[in-house]
Amino acid sequence: METLFTQKEAAHYLNISTTSITNWIRHGYLTSYQNQFQKDELEILKNKIELGEINRLNKRANKSKSKGKFIPDEYISSRESVTKVQEIVTYINANHIKIDQAIFLLALNLFRKTGDITTLKLNEVFNFTKENYRREGVYNHIYEWFHKISSGTVDYHNAKVAYLIDYDLPYELDILGIIYQSILHEGDKSNLGSYYTPRNVVQSLVRGNLKCDSKVLDPCCGTGQFILSFAEYIKNPNNIYGFDIDEKAVNIAKTNLLLFYRDIDFEPQIYCTNSLLAGNSDDLFDVNYKYQNTFDFITTNPPWGAKYDKKTLVEIKNNFKEIKSKESFSFFICQSYRLLKKNGTMNFVLPESITNVKTHSDIREFILSKCTIQKITILGKKFKNVFSSVITMQIKKGTDIKSSIEVVNKDNKYLIEQTRFSNNRHSLFDIYVDQVDKEIFMKISKEGSVSLANQSDWALGIVTGDNKKFITKENGDKDIESIYKGSDIQPFSLKKTDNFIHFIPEYFQQVAPVEKYRASEKLIYKFISSNLVFAYDNQKSLTLNSANILIPKIPGYPIKVVMGFLNSKHFNYYYKKKFNSIKILRGDIEQIPFPKLTDINKTYISNLVDELIENNQNTYNLDNYIFELYNLNNSEREHIESSLDVKFKKVQIKLSFREFP
Ligand SMILES: C[S@@+](CC[C@H](N)C(=O)[O-])C[C@H]1O[C@@H](n2cnc3c(N)ncnc32)[C@H](O)[C@@H]1O
Repeated sequence: METLFTQKEAAHYLNISTTSITNWIRHGYLTSYQNQFQKDELEILKNKIELGEINRLNKRANKSKSKGKFIPDEYISSRESVTKVQEIVTYINANHIKIDQAIFLLALNLFRKTGDITTLKLNEVFNFTKENYRREGVYNHIYEWFHKISSGTVDYHNAKVAYLIDYDLPYELDILGIIYQSILHEGDKSNLGSYYTPRNVVQSLVRGNLKCDSKVLDPCCGTGQFILSFAEYIKNPNNIYGFDIDEKAVNIAKTNLLLFYRDIDFEPQIYCTNSLLAGNSDDLFDVNYKYQNTFDFITTNPPWGAKYDKKTLVEIKNNFKEIKSKESFSFFICQSYRLLKKNGTMNFVLPESITNVKTHSDIREFILSKCTIQKITILGKKFKNVFSSVITMQIKKGTDIKSSIEVVNKDNKYLIEQTRFSNNRHSLFDIYVDQVDKEIFMKISKEGSVSLANQSDWALGIVTGDNKKFITKENGDKDIESIYKGSDIQPFSLKKTDNFIHFIPEYFQQVAPVEKYRASEKLIYKFISSNLVFAYDNQKSLTLNSANILIPKIPGYPIKVVMGFLNSKHFNYYYKKKFNSIKILRGDIEQIPFPKLTDINKTYISNLVDELIENNQNTYNLDNYIFELYNLNNSEREHIESSLDVKFKKVQIKLSFREFP
């Protein structure tokens, strides 16, 4: 039975919060039908989670409500360090030590080890006499930090204080950040998107982009992963800037920078601020205003889907009117644009959904109109703690029509013209279309003469509003009829369904004009699917909303011929490469070009399709024939084959009709 879930039920089914559901819709993992969700689609997601295809999705799923904590061991270099971090985190939790106090004491621990705090006596450490500090910058940082976190004096005889100050911390570049991440509740991390970036990814974004005197910024620096990477290249720490809304993270980032430049006395330029608020020209200390048009290079992994309170969100939205989606990574791209110098560069870690989800067309248009994309690297799902595919995108402030975008997809490197993105519907970044694809696409457009655009009728399946109430397995009643859902559709024909309905349109929440269901011939297709799957129907069948309807009206193009193309490897390849989506959308299908056909071609394809409707067997003959029609050579066919990640079964099926025109 086709089941629809409410948001609450869907959240329960996937064991995630309702806020995560909202986020997943925004990132294109889930489709909401008037705030309802199809069980089929939820099942696909659940399977992906269970198969580990969506990394840690299940672990991360319930984050925004979660009180859970975990050690981010992917940031830790050795097993020994993991054990020590576990030990210290257990100690802090067991003794109910406040996070900020614990981190502060551990910072003192490190500054004592480096010789920045010159006394070993605890009472002297807490006297804050300048003589006991080697650098004024360290003194100022510690002094300010101390006064922010402690309401009274610290009892330096306290064993807990001594334990943390004397603990033999393992050597890790951002040990305080690691401990902080391990103590933070998942819920808190999720709300601000506080998942820090693994070092190898950080390094790959920074490498090659800095001169020793560049002025650089991470506008949401967390505990300073990027800041520390800048420090490897930049001589003067005063050229390194970091902003973050999380004060504890800011204090750790400052500590990290001071520990890195041990022999320079300086005040770290790391500020606690909401980077997305409009700068205030009257406020001398407002970094969002003061540092506009300042930086040579800005790089970060911005928060994705961060949640801000209502008032803050209104202010942010007013500051970035061009961003309708309310997506935090989009706000950060716009803000970084303002902070960059002319011709400055930003390099961001982003979810792949920025390239192809319709909601993000706002930021794509912003980038295309004001910037030059220099490089996109497809990282896939290699991030351990991120559930979606990840890319990095390097963008220059200012447009340069002559330059091309370098795309790196594993071992494959290719160039794309930015104008291609601008010409795409919804400014889609079709990053998977490489040079070879481009040539194949050119052949396709050359041979393609017609499309379904303006020459087809479309309809959505029925949303009953309560499938439990309206759908039945019993078909004894004479008024009852079959109704099909997505999983009842296979290429070319419908499977037998055991779902029935008494069709009274006015009872249901959403029904297409009845004549669409009752058309004498129509195609029914899966709405959520990794392949194009179209079935022929001449039984006037009803469908639920996981199964949509297409009635092709291309003059001289029989419906079965249209279906032959839609189910072919060729169309599947085009769809995957160009749109890379598991939602089969009308607007996308309408863009695929069909070739001009002779009557002989049409008869031949119709006959093949008839055989496939009868007996859903190997489609080699059909695929092969369609390749011929587009004049694709063997190597192009092989390319398509490998792009689809399938080997065509090269078994030519004996045909029951003669010619091969
Ligand atoms: C994904 S983490 C990235 C941290 C660091 N850039 C890295 O890559 O490791 C996102 C960071 O954004 C910060 N953040 C979220 N919203 C912010 C805002 N409006 N202004 C400044 N920082 C913000 C969070 O506190 C968190 O540290």
